[in-house]
Amino acid sequence: MSEAQIWDEIAAHYDDIARVFGTGYPAVRARLARDVSGGRVLEVAAGTGQFTLDLARLADRLVAVDISPAMVGRLRDVLASAGVGDVEVAVGSAYELAVRDQAFDVVFCAGALQIMEAPTRALVEFRRVLRPGGLLIAPTFLHASGGSDVPSGPRVSPSATSAAGGPAAVEGRGGRAPGLTQTLFDLDGLVALVAAAGFDVVDAEEIPGRVPIGYVTARRPDAVALT
Ligand SMILES: C[S@@+](CC[C@H](N)C(=O)[O-])C[C@H]1O[C@@H](n2cnc3c(N)ncnc32)[C@H](O)[C@@H]1O
Repeated sequence: MSEAQIWDEIAAHYDDIARVFGTGYPAVRARLARDVSGGRVLEVAAGTGQFTLDLARLADRLVAVDISPAMVGRLRDVLASAGVGDVEVAVGSAYELAVRDQAFDVVFCAGALQIMEAPTRALVEFRRVLRPGGLLIAPTFLHASGGSDVPSGPRVSPSATSAAGGPAAVEGRGGRAPGLTQTLFDLDGLVALVAAAGFDVVDAEEIPGRVPIGYVTARRPDAVALT
């Protein structure tokens, strides 16, 4: 089943799932208000809009994409209900964004690097669409960092992720990471992955919660050799 198909099946229940596991989301929203002020913002893997309304208030221009048509449909309903009409919403993959180089000041991707099959591929694509000096904000679930609802298994070390981004399949004690999680990150592993994709990491903080969240900010360097 493709990533889009998996998330299409989940879309109808996703708000309930986010309510249960996203106990750290209010803290993410507070940091977003601190870190985003105006500019051209691209939200990738927007889901049903857990942060899209916040970003719509903070950005000068907002484009929100998600690979799942069902998620995008629900996101459109959320925006319409809130009377927000100036967000561009599209179905699109993090691995191949239909966006020109250096088009955005900020790329925001929440709760998604840990479920992606190829997170490094996504990060390299985020770097491509950011202007030099542009900001990546990537709050990511840290299933290897403790919390009250995390699977037992090994922590992810940077070496567990191939340079090509391809899938950091992590074998836990009971087998593959349970559920939809592809990578059991801890904060160091997440930071290493972002840095390896060619970003200068600015800050990394672990937000506590039912599943902790790694709130990582990083900048595209002024000059990078795109791979
Ligand atoms: C756990 S949800 C996160 C949604 C929301 N950002 C949040 O923080 O609650 C993961 C989202 O990533 C999307 N997704 C999965 N793979 C993707 C990809 N390759 N490109 C873009 N979106 C993807 C899914 O459709 C889903 O909406």
